[in-house]
Amino acid sequence: MTLVAITGASRGIGRATAIMLGRRGAAVALIGRESPELAETVRELASQGVSATSFHADLADTGQTVAVARRVQDSLGTPAAVIHNAGVVERARIVDTTPGSLARQLAVNLTAPFLITREWLPSMLERRSGRLVFVGSISSTLGSAGAAAYCASKWGLVGFVKSLAEEVSDHGLMAVAVLPGSVDTTMLAGSGFSPRMTPADVASTLVHYALEAPLAHNGGVIEMFGV
Ligand SMILES: NC(=O)c1ccc[n+]([C@@H]2O[C@H](COP(=O)([O-])OP(=O)(O)OC[C@H]3O[C@@H](n4cnc5c(N)ncnc54)[C@H](OP(=O)(O)O)[C@@H]3O)[C@@H](O)[C@H]2O)c1
Repeated sequence: MTLVAITGASRGIGRATAIMLGRRGAAVALIGRESPELAETVRELASQGVSATSFHADLADTGQTVAVARRVQDSLGTPAAVIHNAGVVERARIVDTTPGSLARQLAVNLTAPFLITREWLPSMLERRSGRLVFVGSISSTLGSAGAAAYCASKWGLVGFVKSLAEEVSDHGLMAVAVLPGSVDTTMLAGSGFSPRMTPADVASTLVHYALEAPLAHNGGVIEMFGV
């Protein structure tokens, strides 16, 4: 059975993606902070007969991030595919952004995907397979007043994915970034933007890249503007 790891599946895009992965017959490793919502995702998957295991970590904490990647690998092996979905936005003008808020957004949105990749990459390269899917944002392509830290983290993520794609080229792996616009989740609330797509729209795109898209997409950046 194909094992797919996903971060941030307690709600929103991650939850929709985890459930869609289960319906497609994948086993799912859910990485995120311990919460009733994450437990509910696991319960829902289990009720559908899906093999789903949660691994708890605060991805704002680099020590916990590395440790959780090792725990997943030790108990289930290196996943066949990884969807780096967890994200946080803390809206504030630059002058009002505290060092802690900047550090948190960079840690969850950029450092955690980097460190988890670093942990699992050696075995993926050795077995010459691995699908690495990263959730960026349309904010990876533009600036946004009141969300500079978030934009910086999401632009940085695309730089990381492009570099990763260069490193894994010719090794049987694929790294892509999916950049959604406004998705109808709690993250969008308070942004002032109207939703232009559903979590399911993004989930089906992420599942496509995690399970079946041709590896020739390596290095791809898929923008989703919505309808
Ligand atoms: N919604 C949009 O319009 C939109 C647009 C473009 C890109 N995106 C991106 O899509 C991804 C999913 O966002 P969403 O809209 O589904 O947001 P959401 O509903 O707020 O969900 C965010 C997920 O990330 C997890 N997370 C946040 N901080 C974490 C931490 N410190 N440690 C571990 N997990 C953490 C949350 O878990 P907890 O339950 O522990 O908080 C939750 O599962 C994010 O990367 C986001 O940047 C969203």
